[in-house]
Amino acid sequence: MSKSDRVVLVLGGAGTVGSGIVKALLDKGFKAAVISRDGGRLEKLRAFVSPSSKDNLIAVVGDVGSEDGAQQAKQQLLQHVGKVTDVVSALGFSWWQGGPPHTQTLQDLHWVSTHTPSCSFPSLMSLMSPLSPAVLMRPACCSLQVLDALLFSTFVSWKTFFPLVRDDPSCSYTFITGGAGEQLLMPGTGFLTVGAASALAFCQVLRDEYPQVDCRLCQVKINTGVATPERLGPGYLNHLDLGVAVATLVERGSSSHCVFTIGSPADLQTQLLDGNL
Ligand SMILES: NC(=O)c1ccc[n+]([C@@H]2O[C@H](COP(=O)([O-])OP(=O)(O)OC[C@H]3O[C@@H](n4cnc5c(N)ncnc54)[C@H](OP(=O)(O)O)[C@@H]3O)[C@@H](O)[C@H]2O)c1
Repeated sequence: MSKSDRVVLVLGGAGTVGSGIVKALLDKGFKAAVISRDGGRLEKLRAFVSPSSKDNLIAVVGDVGSEDGAQQAKQQLLQHVGKVTDVVSALGFSWWQGGPPHTQTLQDLHWVSTHTPSCSFPSLMSLMSPLSPAVLMRPACCSLQVLDALLFSTFVSWKTFFPLVRDDPSCSYTFITGGAGEQLLMPGTGFLTVGAASALAFCQVLRDEYPQVDCRLCQVKINTGVATPERLGPGYLNHLDLGVAVATLVERGSSSHCVFTIGSPADLQTQLLDGNL
């Protein structure tokens, strides 16, 4: 199947990691579909991708964090594109540093969406370096959705979209996960670890529960920060470079059930770009 016939659904495609992947896929000639809860983020994404590829970006406003929302988004998407050949799941959030567990509530761990439009917290969050020692106090008006963003949406969207690709060996489903799930990155980031660990465990469960599926099931585990070129810290991955590497993985394919562990920019080259797939 030619690349122009392939439709890659990038879940979380309007985010830091996902936007790099979407741009690279479009540059390679794929069609890319993105579902976001925020039409404004989809517009920013459209302005970010290469002008010549904009027509191959399919943007759908939707919420894949609930079964109904994911089903609605799927119907809308299929009306636009007819089929999905590959899925890349880059759902979650860039950073969480709400404080040590004894200062948190059950809602902080689960989900709460009391964020108000006037609050500047998400933009401050996106300015913050993931490995910076700065502690950003969360305003009372908002909270980040730990398990909701990192586990529930990953699970619900997998259940919804996996059947579209499951039975075809030319299709793929790739998870982007974070190494934050294996250790506390710094004081106050505990729930980020809990959320990221749940996403890692979910991917492990899928590999073990479904040892043989026709489509390729892959995981790219990133053990360092990812940022846009303006916000890169030492050792970080540029989201554009990561995007090219993930798009190459989708393009070339790899053995199913592979986990690619990326801890540095050099790993992108050796693991995903040098033809070792
Ligand atoms: N950034 C890093 O330094 C880094 C490092 C290693 C691994 N990772 C991993 O990469 C993944 C993505 O991180 P990121 O930095 O790109 O986060 P991000 O910039 O916050 O983007 C996350 C995306 O997930 C989407 N999302 C979450 N819940 C959703 C839902 N219910 N319905 C629809 N979309 C939903 C958001 O969509 P909306 O547009 O609707 O908000 C957003 O675009 C995470 O799993 C993270 O563990 C990130």
